[in-house]
Amino acid sequence: MLSKITVVGAGNVGATAAQRIAEKELARTVVMVDVAEGVPQGKGLDQWESAPIELFDSRVIGANGYDESAGSDIVVITAGIARKPGMSRDDLLNTNAGIVKSVAENVAKTSPNAIIIVVSNPLDVMCYVAMKASGFPRERVIGMAGVLDTARYRSFLAEALDVSVRDIQAMVLGGHGDTMVPLITYTTVSGIPITQLLAKDKLDAIVDRARNGGAEIVKYLKTGSAYYAPSSGAVQMVEAIVLDQKRILPCSAWLQGEYGMKDLFLGVPVKLGRKGMEKIIEVTLTADEKAALAKSAEAVREPMSVIKL
Ligand code: NAI
Ligand code: 2OP
Repeated sequence: MLSKITVVGAGNVGATAAQRIAEKELARTVVMVDVAEGVPQGKGLDQWESAPIELFDSRVIGANGYDESAGSDIVVITAGIARKPGMSRDDLLNTNAGIVKSVAENVAKTSPNAIIIVVSNPLDVMCYVAMKASGFPRERVIGMAGVLDTARYRSFLAEALDVSVRDIQAMVLGGHGDTMVPLITYTTVSGIPITQLLAKDKLDAIVDRARNGGAEIVKYLKTGSAYYAPSSGAVQMVEAIVLDQKRILPCSAWLQGEYGMKDLFLGVPVKLGRKGMEKIIEVTLTADEKAALAKSAEAVREPMSVIKL
């Protein structure tokens, strides 16, 4: 158990992540920070009051500033706004960039040794903002998206094959958007290549559904986006770090030559342990996968070039 983990943003993703972190007892103290007065305090108290029933000894607290979160080992950033009618994509981008910038600056001041896990969208660009604003090395700024995108892909495959989700091994790389790259050649069911078990048209339909997994949930919810699976994704990364598990998970990482790319965050296989992003694993890609990853990188570079830091 670590001594302190902070979740910034006590909205749908943040509050659910904080509850999951507490229930898994990944930290002695779990701090939720949000600008909304009373919200993190109320949610934190409510969550902590579930401790005698759920049986955890983590203390959950809420705050509107960073004093309570000082000295955190891990900070999960979920703060941000969703796109509203009349707002352009660039408006959203710049608004969330401003929020993530100020959050990361506060984190750097109060928790200088923390590992930051970014969740706020647009994910890969917000990772860049968080790294720049915190001044942290790339090992300590990692984005959560690939774990979620892969979980969606694995769920749909398990359903189509009528097998346990546990037995589906897969990896979705690239940026968090509709250019993401599910690696079919590395998708197996207990080691059996997926192409031996599922017809191409069915597989293509599942890849397409995974790419649009976020939009599918928004269409149902109408006023918000997914948060149960996203918070699970963030907490899986937190757990890998806290327990020094050396898990290989698809995460957004700052590329410095890996996959032939430089100076951008992109979803790639990463070894996660107590030091954060301990290694980027470079796997062999087919020509089509390479082209798809390059296209996905372009989709990240474009918004990166318009943000004002
Ligand atoms: P939400 O609207 O429920 O919560 C956002 C929270 O951030 C609000 O409580 C708001 O008061 C807070 N906030 C705003 N400015 C702040 C600041 N300066 N400091 C602290 N808190 C601040 O939104 P939700 O559903 O929790 O999503 C959060 C973010 O995560 C969004 O940007 C969303 O698009 C993104 N997301 C990313 C996913 C991924 O795979 N990377 C998956 C799901 C959501
Ligand atoms: C998702 O994929 C909105 O990024 C979020 O659900």
